[in-house]
This record gives sequence, C-alpha cells and structure tokens, in this order.
Amino acid sequence: MIEMNKIVKIGIIGLGQIGIYLYNELNIKKKEIEKKTGKRIKIVAISAKNKNKKRRFKFSKKIFYKNPLQIFKNENIDILFECVGLSDGISKKVVETALKNKINVITPNKALIAKHGDYLAKLAEKNNVCLEFEASVAGGIPIVRTIKEGLATNKINKVYGILNGTTNYILSEMENNNESFKRVLQKAQKLGYAEPGNPKLDLNGFDAFAKIRILSSLSFNTKISKANCIMEGIENIKLEDIKIASQLGLRVKLLGISEIINNQLFETVHPCLVSKKTYIGNVNGVMNAVITEGKPVGESILQGEGAGPGPTSSSLLSDLFSILRGNIKYPFGIESVKRKKITIFNKNNYKNSLYLRFIVKDKQGVLSSITNRLAKYKISVKRIIQTPDKANKEATIIIITHKTSEINANKCLSIFKNNNNTLKFLTLIRLYN
Ligand code: HSE
Repeated sequence: MIEMNKIVKIGIIGLGQIGIYLYNELNIKKKEIEKKTGKRIKIVAISAKNKNKKRRFKFSKKIFYKNPLQIFKNENIDILFECVGLSDGISKKVVETALKNKINVITPNKALIAKHGDYLAKLAEKNNVCLEFEASVAGGIPIVRTIKEGLATNKINKVYGILNGTTNYILSEMENNNESFKRVLQKAQKLGYAEPGNPKLDLNGFDAFAKIRILSSLSFNTKISKANCIMEGIENIKLEDIKIASQLGLRVKLLGISEIINNQLFETVHPCLVSKKTYIGNVNGVMNAVITEGKPVGESILQGEGAGPGPTSSSLLSDLFSILRGNIKYPFGIESVKRKKITIFNKNNYKNSLYLRFIVKDKQGVLSSITNRLAKYKISVKRIIQTPDKANKEATIIIITHKTSEINANKCLSIFKNNNNTLKFLTLIRLYN
C-alpha cells in the first residue's frame, strides 16, 4: 500500500510508441492524477535501448538509464512500467526484479503475461505488491478489470471477440478501399497498431492468442493454458476472398474464442466468416470487441480501440489509478493457489461450417471430383457457386459446407492440398455462428 503524502516514484522501461506516449501522458496529467487519487507522482527513471532514436515526444535525458537493471540499484521506485514487450529476456528480468524488490508493476505486455503470468502473479502475491496488465488485452477496453471486478460474481463460460486491432484494421481497409494487404499493413505500422518490430505476431494470430489465454484464466479462474489449440492468422486471406465474402453478405474477422465445453477448455484464434448483419460483423477498423457470456449476467459486450498508444495508455493509467487508490489485488482476481488446472478440449472435435475456394480448369468431372470427395466424408454442401473465367478456361468454385469436425475436414481436404494444373485449393475459412 502506498502511503499518503508520499511522492510516488515511477520508472518506465521501454520508450517505443507506447512508452514515450505514456511518459508524456504521465507528465501532462500529474495534476489530474493528484486530484483523483490524492497521490503525487514523479518519473524518476526511464530506460530504452537507443537514447537518441527520433521519438514523438521529448524526454529528460537526465533520468535516462542505458541499463534498466541499474534503476533498481540507484532509485527507490514504487511503480515500474514495463513497455518493452518481449515474452522473455529483459522484459521478464525487469518485471521479476521489480516484484522481488517489492515494486508494483504495470505492463501492457501480453506475450510476457501469457507465458509467465502464473509465476509472476505468485511472485507479486508473495511480495505483497500489484502486477497489473489491463493494457495487455484489447488496448483501451477495460476488459481485465471488468472480469476481475465488475463481473466477479458471475460464472463465465465463454469469452470471445476481436482482439487484434492491426488485423481488424487490415481486413476492414482491404474491404473498404480495395487496397493490398502490404500497403494496409504499412499504414497500420505507421499508426502504431502493429507489434513493435514484428508485425508477424499480429498477422499470424499469436498476439490474439496470448490475449485469449489471459482472458481464459481471468474468466474461468484457471491457470494459463499451454495448450496447443488452433492458431491461424490472416496471412492466407486474399482480397479475392474478402470480395466474395462481401457478395455473400459475410465479412472476414479474426476471432479469438475461449469456451468451456463439457468442463474442458477450448481456446482458438482463426479467421471467421461472420454475417454482416451481426454485431461482431460490424466491429471494423482498429476496433476490438470482447463478448462475455456469464450467469446470471447474460451477455456483456465491450468495444473500443484495441491498439495504438492512446488507447493503450488509457489502460496503463487506469492500472496506475488502481494502485494509487490503494488495495493490493490478486493479479488474476483470485489467489494464485486457488486457480485450477483444466483439461483441454480435443481440437479435432471442433465443428464448423466451412468456406472453400478452388480454382479449377473448366472441364468435365472437376466439380464432381470435389463434391464426391466431400460426400465420401459425409460433408454436406450448403451452398455452391461457380464463376467461369472464360479467357483462362478456368472457374472459381466456392463451396460452403454444413458443419463438420476439424479432423474430418482435414482428412477429406488433404487430397486437394497438392495443387495441380486442374485444381488449386486456395482458401478455407471457418464460419462463425
Ligand atoms: N498489436 C496489437 C493489436 C496491439 O494490433 O491489437 C497491442 O496489443
């Protein structure tokens, strides 16, 4: 607990897009923080890899440390912001060191929390300090605190939504402006949405999956799962699929889903086709949305900007307020020893309708080779559209199937994976309903 009338000393490690924005916010909001929490803050140490990199805001070089670990030796800080963003390495080292030294930690680092959250939460509890990570999930949306506090007495059985701003922005811009994937990604990076240095982590579903792991453990009071569920990103989604989906009244969304099925945990991240008439189908741009289903509360929805320095900073400051206002809280809402391990649902049994896109030579027997194969595996066709491309003597075939299990679909479709001159199997997207 931070005493009254004390100047609260703050350190920030990492001065990338998030860290430098936070630094500026803390400085310009000092008075407001004091008015609302009764505590005065002072940034006494900052650290980054490169002191001279061009940044959006100026910072005081007098409090700059090249080696972040030196801060623990020289300064008596109360709260540390870790904004480096690695799952291990220096991120883990500074958070660990801070907690061991009884320093409260605030981090937007979902990779670190998803990987080491159980261990770090225990460490925080043992040292009687806070480990706060509101900004690690869905940027500016206060979903972590909502689950831990607002929904605390509910039994949640499902949490899902759009958890990655970069990919949602890319998919929306491609659809709206007919722009290439590459061009839109560059815009997302400029806006500070994509993960620092490595947008692959956004595109391949890793970022959303880390968030889903955190949401699962908060929602179900379980240890963070290490399960190897389905994780797919948007790298294989083509403008062509987005256009076809649009004509069918559908939109591609990268969904993260975590659910308790028969007392087992199922977590997944993959592109989904959703109806344009649904709520989730209309969450566009950098927006994230998180939907929880619980008893007795029913369905709750939170929507907001899921990436970028502004929204992330909003969540980091809400963590700061929580610490300044008092109360040491369990990082995952309940004491670490009370969080359970849970059996994992077998991903082979996950069932969905599927959207399949093929390009075939427009000749006799090709369509039936596809439908016969589906029939052999008892996969029923719900919808089929063939569009000829006369100039190339080809046709695009779109098939939407009824529901089938993951294992059955894999067995059935494996034969098409070796593309040949007659048939190219280009895309599979699951439908969400
Ligand atoms: N890179 C993330 C996203 C933001 O695009 O949603 C931080 O979690």
